[in-house]
Amino acid sequence: MQKLAAGNWKMNGTAEVLAEIAALAAAEPTPACEVLICPPATLLSRLSDAAKGSPIRTGAQDCHANEGGAHTGDISAEMVADAGGHYIIVGHSERRADHAETDAIVRAKAEAAWRAGLSAIICIGETLEEREAGRTIEVVGGQLAGSVPDGATGVNTVIAYEPVWAIGTGKVPTLDEIGAVHDDIRTRLVDRFGATANDMRLLYGGSVKPGNAAEIFGVSNVDGALVGGASLKAADFAGIVSALK
Ligand code: 13P
Repeated sequence: MQKLAAGNWKMNGTAEVLAEIAALAAAEPTPACEVLICPPATLLSRLSDAAKGSPIRTGAQDCHANEGGAHTGDISAEMVADAGGHYIIVGHSERRADHAETDAIVRAKAEAAWRAGLSAIICIGETLEEREAGRTIEVVGGQLAGSVPDGATGVNTVIAYEPVWAIGTGKVPTLDEIGAVHDDIRTRLVDRFGATANDMRLLYGGSVKPGNAAEIFGVSNVDGALVGGASLKAADFAGIVSALK
């Protein structure tokens, strides 16, 4: 399995950030892992062009479930592919919260990514309230069952476990807590999908930085990271990429 360092730029960046791609490619010319940047949709095509000739791949942060039609402001998975993207993040907690995305919607979006020949990065994770109530495994397990479509394989699907309370806060679960959730996710995926689930990358996300990446990557069933803030600067993200062996 090739591990994956994925950057989610969220709603950050205009043309000047394209320079970060060249800086990242220069800092990590031959990464040991797969490297992915998901910029805002407005930059995807330009970023895909800027990444040509480097090992960096690009993707989108969301898509509509349909191929086209009267959906003002949305983009389809086919449009992401046309703009050079290889992956689509679906079900990020910010989209679940800001746009009331349910597991069923997330599942349809993951299927849309596959329809366009792309891989889906399906996000799940509990809130602080759910963790404190001792419901983490139940909540994450429920989201996994509801958001991952039948037909998921190690090629077309990546799972990102992102505790909502760890996103952008500087707070990170203990390594044991991360391991317990990732082990449970792997068990559930293997139960449902069989051996291909052993090849499915399970990313941890939430306040991953160059300073904590190596220890997080040492946890069982952590196959990479989905990184927000620390992916915006090439120097920071390169530190995370180089920690992923
Ligand atoms: P931060 O790395 O900024 O905590 O964000 C994580 C995230 O939401 C990535 O999708």
